[in-house]
Amino acid sequence: MGRLEGRVALVTGAAQGIGAEFAKGLAAEGAKVAISDMDSGQTVVDIIKQAGGDAIDAPCDVSDEASARAAVQKTVEAFGRLDILVNNAAIFTMVDRASFDEITVDDWDRVSSVNIKGVWLMCKEAVPEMRKNSYGKIINISSGRAFKGSTHFLHYDASKAAVVGITRSLAREIGGDNICVNAIAPGATASENVLKRDTALGASMEGTMKTRALKRIETPEDLVGACLFLASADSDFITGQSLVVDGGSAMH
Ligand SMILES: NC(=O)c1ccc[n+]([C@@H]2O[C@H](COP(=O)([O-])OP(=O)(O)OC[C@H]3O[C@@H](n4cnc5c(N)ncnc54)[C@H](O)[C@@H]3O)[C@@H](O)[C@H]2O)c1
Repeated sequence: MGRLEGRVALVTGAAQGIGAEFAKGLAAEGAKVAISDMDSGQTVVDIIKQAGGDAIDAPCDVSDEASARAAVQKTVEAFGRLDILVNNAAIFTMVDRASFDEITVDDWDRVSSVNIKGVWLMCKEAVPEMRKNSYGKIINISSGRAFKGSTHFLHYDASKAAVVGITRSLAREIGGDNICVNAIAPGATASENVLKRDTALGASMEGTMKTRALKRIETPEDLVGACLFLASADSDFITGQSLVVDGGSAMH
């Protein structure tokens, strides 16, 4: 029996990349999973079903309140409850890198709207469902950049530091409901969009590797174990924490 048998999870930004690996990992442990992305999640749904799991496509724009609400409602209608929310969706590979004084106000607002407001909106919609069962796990995806500092991506880095802030404050606010809120901070990870779209990050994978205690390229699969731990009863007394999963590049 899997560690998440009987649990229901919603993973945002799960149509591809790291989110898709989280969804597949949660399903392999027995959770029923909703794939919530701007893009169709049907391919990931099919993969999960072919492997014997259960999943639905619950499309969503996390930055839109009505859309976030609809995704949570669709999940609960399909599976009867919601136990696990993975806030993985982010504007990341689709945003231009630029020095702090060249970032446009439009880009700043676009990144904040998805990466910060989107996390808050999904929590706002999911927590009432978790409260019904006095149990829940929220896993927010931050970034090692929030701990290390970096250049030419200030809007993104600020948004991922905000995710750490949301994690800590929300953990205190809903601890009384027995809902745990934690974050995972990945290092530079060779997800398909990083390799396809983000030529700067894709090209610097070898360089990043040298900053790590464990000297190899990080893959989406490297992040799944931390997600399963934080989604399972194994972490029931851990909340407000940010776990850096980057092979020992940022240490805090
Ligand atoms: N890959 C890395 O190097 C790396 C490093 C640190 C942190 N992260 C974080 O990990 C997460 C996943 O990264 P990835 O490499 O798989 O990126 P990705 O760009 O492949 O995936 C992001 C997903 O979010 C979806 N999305 C974007 N805006 C959305 C919205 N408004 N509503 C719903 N879905 C939306 C996209 O369609 C996409 O499927 C992100 O939060 C990213 O910031 C990635």
